[in-house]
Amino acid sequence: MITVKTLASLAETQALSGKRVFIRSDLNVPLNDGHITEDTRIRSSLPAIRMALDAGAAVMVASHLGRPQEGKPTPETTLAPVAQRMSELLEMPVRLQTQWLDGVQVQPGEVVLLENCRYNVGEKSNNTELARKMAALCDVYVNDAFGTAHRAQATTHGIAQFAPVACAGPLLESELRTLAQSLQEPRRPMVAIVGGAKVSTKLTVLRALAAKVDQLIVGGGIANTFMLASGLPIGKSLAEPAQVDEAKAVMQIMQERGAAVPIPVDVVCAPYLGADAPATIKPATDVQDDEMILDVGPETAERLAQTLMDAGTIVWNGPVGVFEHDAFANGTRTLAQAVARSSGMSLAGGGDTVAAIAKFGIADDVDYISTGGGAFLEFLEGKVLPAVDVLQKRANA
Ligand code: 3PG
Repeated sequence: MITVKTLASLAETQALSGKRVFIRSDLNVPLNDGHITEDTRIRSSLPAIRMALDAGAAVMVASHLGRPQEGKPTPETTLAPVAQRMSELLEMPVRLQTQWLDGVQVQPGEVVLLENCRYNVGEKSNNTELARKMAALCDVYVNDAFGTAHRAQATTHGIAQFAPVACAGPLLESELRTLAQSLQEPRRPMVAIVGGAKVSTKLTVLRALAAKVDQLIVGGGIANTFMLASGLPIGKSLAEPAQVDEAKAVMQIMQERGAAVPIPVDVVCAPYLGADAPATIKPATDVQDDEMILDVGPETAERLAQTLMDAGTIVWNGPVGVFEHDAFANGTRTLAQAVARSSGMSLAGGGDTVAAIAKFGIADDVDYISTGGGAFLEFLEGKVLPAVDVLQKRANA
């Protein structure tokens, strides 16, 4: 069980009035040419900010954006567009402070957004001196950044060791509670969809899920590697021959438990990847040397959709085809619609998955959309999230 101090309990006991509160949010939103293309993470961060403001606190909000080199601010990674969006959503001014390590002027009832924390040298290495400096800025440190909870960095970990009080914000709290509840005692059958390019990047999550779920649906390059492991031809499709043994091991674990990894029976192929690439539907046994598999075929999609319709719990990370192009979107669309219609508890996470959910307009029908990508995967793997671990240690100290 995860036990941490919470911002909600501090707010309830009037412990925040006049206090300086430092909230670490995950405002790492996708941008195109300086414009925010998807603002879920900003919206999801507002309840913590409002809670602190309503409780009479002076609020500082910190986040990273992208992966800038430390000490090297760039126009692409400034939080300026985020400050503007946050100010619109909160309907109050949100000042962006560029240099903030040596002090922040903020009054109760005000919000200051601190410029990209990854500009500070020592952020990523969780430098102790930097963390102490940050901790000195506040009376209360709040971690509300579930999306970054798998990183042990100065704003997610070090500061929590040194701040006078360290607690979890409502977003972090609800992510942890929902994921733990639905995964620890899942309603069965439990089905996971794991898509993406490489088996190697999702090895641990595939292994962890193989020990837990009843059906493990694989998609994208991962599915191609599993097809290869099943002796099917995959032409010049994206795959990792070096991971074939790993794929076999996952299938073996599943089989021994009476569970399965459904292998596609038909596929959508093209000679190359592109919006204009000519698509051909064919049996999975007929893929030619000069072809690439870019989606599951309609029969496979229907079978998988049925599996999802019958599921008690669905965990979804990654698309099953190149859904950005219409010719290869049917598999992911069919699965998305089945997730939406299924009466099972559905949990989804990851940038591509959230993009697919938005594209197919099913956001309101997915029970829980996590703001985490890597953090969501690490939670599924059963790993300890360092940012949560430190809050627990503080709560139990
Ligand atoms: C994410 O987008 O998954 C989080 O914001 C973490 O970002 P990072 O992978 O750059 O640490």
